[in-house]
Amino acid sequence: MNVLLTGGCGYIGSHVAVVLMAAGHHVAIVDNLSNSHQGVVDRISEIAGRSPAFHRGDVADVKLVRDVIREHSVDSVIHLAGFKSVGESVQWPLKYYQNNVCGALGLLEAMEAESVAHLVFSSSATIYGDPRYLPVDESHPQHVINAYGRSKLHIEDMLRDVCVSRPSLGAVCLRYFNPVGAHSSGLIGDRPRGIPNNLMPYVVQVASGELERLKVFGDDYPTPDGTGVRDYIHVMDLAEGHVAALDYLSSNSGWHAFNLGTGRGYSVLEMIRAFEAQSGRSIPFEITGRRQGDVACSYADIRSAAQGLNWRATRSLEDMCASAWGFQSRLAGG
Ligand code: WQD
Repeated sequence: MNVLLTGGCGYIGSHVAVVLMAAGHHVAIVDNLSNSHQGVVDRISEIAGRSPAFHRGDVADVKLVRDVIREHSVDSVIHLAGFKSVGESVQWPLKYYQNNVCGALGLLEAMEAESVAHLVFSSSATIYGDPRYLPVDESHPQHVINAYGRSKLHIEDMLRDVCVSRPSLGAVCLRYFNPVGAHSSGLIGDRPRGIPNNLMPYVVQVASGELERLKVFGDDYPTPDGTGVRDYIHVMDLAEGHVAALDYLSSNSGWHAFNLGTGRGYSVLEMIRAFEAQSGRSIPFEITGRRQGDVACSYADIRSAAQGLNWRATRSLEDMCASAWGFQSRLAGG
């Protein structure tokens, strides 16, 4: 297939690009590089053995997107472009609605104008809020508590409406749990700008000595060791889930949503120990107060994705930690 991949220079996007190209798809990336670097296109090319097309620009630019669709005879879109910091979204909600929701609106307009009928959308388990039951399945109540999660939910709901008005359209919303790790080459990985918000990139930078110690946000949660539990999923498993979703759309129209997780959770302390074992580095940490908005425990019910997409995560926690460290080591010239 000829796939338009928005946000393809980002952490998730670069791994999706590599897996798409390995599966024989042609990839055209549109990315405004607001949270990524164009050099990632070269890394993707190095891994894939051929180059994706790259167009710098914003998905809200309907004319640009339509030109790219026509130039590359695009038949499917994977939409990853968007801001993704929970904390930032609380501070600047309008920035998140403008960028994420209006960006998706522009993309949908371009797709409609060019009769593109397959869309895979990068959604998030954040839309579930604090789990009322576990594991979290796709029917779990949606209780968003920040503008980031609400922007994802607004886009999911827009897709529901467009699928009703355009019966030929197929849309799959992939609700990510906690992506971590990197491609085995160490050429691409998670390198956020500034101080990392998320656990794994922060741990990696403590291991490398860039940061002094990890703050563990609370050890008084109702979990086995008191620290937060999350469903960490290898980014390569996540990327493969996107190819499975594209295949699903070749024989299914309408609106669909699937959780992408492993079905089991690990605590912060378990992640620290696993990373120390794989990196051989000590991770000094201090226990601090809880972070506002954090939930105690979240992990996915994976049956729907297994049945619907014939997809499940296969990589281990050890793979996640070793590959994250491998990327950092290569970045540092190790
Ligand atoms: C994981 C655990 C923290 C940092 C967020 C978004 C979600 C998705 C993934 C985009 C928690 C603890 C963390 C630190 C810590 N992003 N922690 N010290 O909050 O589950 O999910 O990122 O789609 O939408 O909400 O991930 O990695 O920030 O936190 O103790 O310095 O690690 O309290 O228990 P989170 P996270």
